Amino acid sequence: MTIVAVTGPFAHEVVVEAGALASLGSRVRATGAARVLLAVDRAIVASHGARAHASLTAAGCATTMIELVANEKEKTMPAVEALWSAALAASLTRRDAFLALGGGLVGDVVGFAAASYLRGVTLVQAPTTLLAMVDASTGGKTGINLRLPDGSLGKNLAGAFWPPAVVVADPDTLSTLPDREYRSGLAECIKHAIIDGEAHLAFLEASMSAIVARDPNAIAALVARSVAVKAAVVSRDPREAGERATLNLGHTFAHAFETLDGLDLLHGEAVAIGLMAAQRLAEAENPSDPARRSLAARVERLLVAARLPTSLPTPVAASAIEARMGFDKKSDGRGVRFVVPVAAGEVRYGVAVEGRSVRDALAAIGASAS
Ligand SMILES: NC(=O)c1ccc[n+]([C@@H]2O[C@H](COP(=O)([O-])OP(=O)(O)OC[C@H]3O[C@@H](n4cnc5c(N)ncnc54)[C@H](O)[C@@H]3O)[C@@H](O)[C@H]2O)c1
Ligand SMILES: [Zn+2]
Repeated sequence: MTIVAVTGPFAHEVVVEAGALASLGSRVRATGAARVLLAVDRAIVASHGARAHASLTAAGCATTMIELVANEKEKTMPAVEALWSAALAASLTRRDAFLALGGGLVGDVVGFAAASYLRGVTLVQAPTTLLAMVDASTGGKTGINLRLPDGSLGKNLAGAFWPPAVVVADPDTLSTLPDREYRSGLAECIKHAIIDGEAHLAFLEASMSAIVARDPNAIAALVARSVAVKAAVVSRDPREAGERATLNLGHTFAHAFETLDGLDLLHGEAVAIGLMAAQRLAEAENPSDPARRSLAARVERLLVAARLPTSLPTPVAASAIEARMGFDKKSDGRGVRFVVPVAAGEVRYGVAVEGRSVRDALAAIGASAS
C-alpha cells in the first residue's frame, strides 16, 4: 500500500492499494459518516459496485446506491438533482458522505453534488479509470457541463473546489477497463513524468512494456508515482494561482483537438498529440537547445511505446486549430499563453510564444497549412 498526502487547504490522503475496495467501508466510516450515498458508474455496477456495496454494508454504513451514466451529455444538472433527491430520500445529514465509484466523469458530478448538498458533505473518491486515479480524483476540482446558448455543451462550466476526505484507488478495478481507455490515461502519466523530471521519465522508460501489458505491480507503482506528482503540485498551489497551470501541459492543444469534428479522440489521445505539439513548440522557440530536442525525442518514444498517437489521425487546417485555441489572426496570439516543456522536470507556464512557433508545432503533428 502507498499513501500519498495532499497538504495545504485541500489536505487529504490518496490510498493506492490492490484490493483496497475491500477496505472502502472502514475508510468511509473513519470519516465519521454513518450513511453513504454510493454513486456508481453504470458500466461497473455488477462488478466493482457490488463489492463496494458489500464493503460499506459490512462496515455498518447505511448505503444507498445510485447509478450514473458516464457520458458528457449526462454530466449535467439532472444528474446532480438525482443525487440530491436520493440523498434526501435516504435522510443523509451533514455528517454523512457521498462516495463516487467510477471514472473522472462520475467523480466530477458526485463531487459537485457533494459540494452543495446541505452546503457541503463529506466526499470520498474511489476512482476506477487510470485517468481518474492519477489525475481527476485528486486536487479538489469538481464540475458539470452547461448547455450554451447555441445548444452545444460547454465542458466543466459550473464547478466548485471541493476536496475529497480520502481517495481510495484500487488498481484491481482497472482489470475491466477497456484497453483504449487505459492507454488514454497513460498520456496523463507521461505528462506527470515530464513535469517531475529525470527519475520519473527513466522509470516510465524502464517499465512501459510491463505497464502496457498490464502487469499489476507495474500499474500499482505507476499510479502511486504519478498521483504523487499531482498531489505535490496541488499542495503547493491549490487554486491554480501559478504552478498548478503546469498540469495543463499539452492541454491547450488537446482541448482544441477534442472539439474538432470527426477526429473522434478520447481525452488522453488528444493529450498525447498535445504533449507532442508542446514539445515541438518548445523546440521551435529555441531550435539550438539540445535539452529540448532530447526531451522531445524521449516523449515521442514513450507515447509510441504506450501506443498513443503522436500526430493527428487526419490532417486538419492549422488555422482551424489556432482558432479553437483563441490564437487566430486577429489576436495573433496575444492573450494565449502556453505551457512549455524546456527540459526534464522544467516546465514553464504562462509563456507567450511566436505565432510562427505555434504553426511549426502544428505542422510537426500533421496539421495542414491551409
Ligand atoms: N476534476 C478534475 O481535476 C478532472 C481532471 C481530468 C479530467 N476530469 C474529467 O474526467 C472525465 C474523464 O474521466 P475518465 O477518463 O475517467 O472517463 P469516464 O469517467 O468517462 O470513464 C471512461 C469510460 O470508462 C468506463 N469505466 C470507468 N471505470 C471502468 C472500469 N473500471 N471498468 C470498465 N469500464 C469503466 C466508463 O463507463 C466510461 O465509458 C471528464 O469529464 C473530465 O472533464 C476531471
Ligand atoms: Zn487531462
